[in-house]
Amino acid sequence: MRLGARLQAIASMIPRGALVIDIGADHAKLPIHVVQNGICQQAIIVEVTKGPYESAKNNVLLSGYASKIDVRLGDGLHPIERHEVDQIVMAGMGGMTIFAILTSLYANQLLAQRDHVLLLNPMNAGGFLRYALLQLAYDVEVDQLVQEDGIIYNIMRCRASTRYDTTQRMDIISILEQKFYALSLPEQFNWEWPHDVRHRDPLAKEALARELKKRVQILEKFGKGMEVLPNGLQKIADEIILYRMHNA
Ligand SMILES: C[S@@+](CC[C@H](N)C(=O)[O-])C[C@H]1O[C@@H](n2cnc3c(N)ncnc32)[C@H](O)[C@@H]1O
Repeated sequence: MRLGARLQAIASMIPRGALVIDIGADHAKLPIHVVQNGICQQAIIVEVTKGPYESAKNNVLLSGYASKIDVRLGDGLHPIERHEVDQIVMAGMGGMTIFAILTSLYANQLLAQRDHVLLLNPMNAGGFLRYALLQLAYDVEVDQLVQEDGIIYNIMRCRASTRYDTTQRMDIISILEQKFYALSLPEQFNWEWPHDVRHRDPLAKEALARELKKRVQILEKFGKGMEVLPNGLQKIADEIILYRMHNA
């Protein structure tokens, strides 16, 4: 099974002999790849949606690795047992969904009991996710950009130190969301584009230029001729200044 650059970047972070849990695996490409290439002896797929669950099951069956890749229907970490926790992949999902999966009551109890690594590819809300992971005492060990078919993706590898006990506050997502969006725009920008990623990753300049272009287009389309911008558009105008500043 050949992987595109995005899933290949995640596969290359998985240590030999690890047990991979791919949450939201859909087509099952990553688990099939790691088992086929002898990186892992075993993998687990969790899918919450019937269609992708069936397609994961079919693809695993066709690959000939059904005895090594266990496909489970369920929500996030709920179908996972304590002894299985190891390398947890969540790719191609929104940052909020990833965080919601990590902070369910069951996930919180499960993850507090065993060392684990998160391999994440958030499709949006990356700034919030970095901020929120830090509150759960995760260290982002690798934070990189990868380009596939012209799209630039963010890939992170995170490891838990002493994990914050979220069972005390089940409204943790809304609390952190409120805190994050109360930060100043430059602070939010720095979570979305950490200093070292901006300066180290060769794709960062291109990614920032694309984000800038998107915002300029929105402002030109919806803000044309307005003397006073409504709040949403004013935020975009302020972000344009930030993106220009950091992409000079
Ligand atoms: C866009 S696909 C990504 C597929 C693959 N991981 C990739 O990166 O190419 C996202 C998948 O996540 C699944 N998903 C979303 N929330 C989930 C949850 N809470 N538990 C398990 N799967 C979930 C969806 O059903 C969908 O199939």
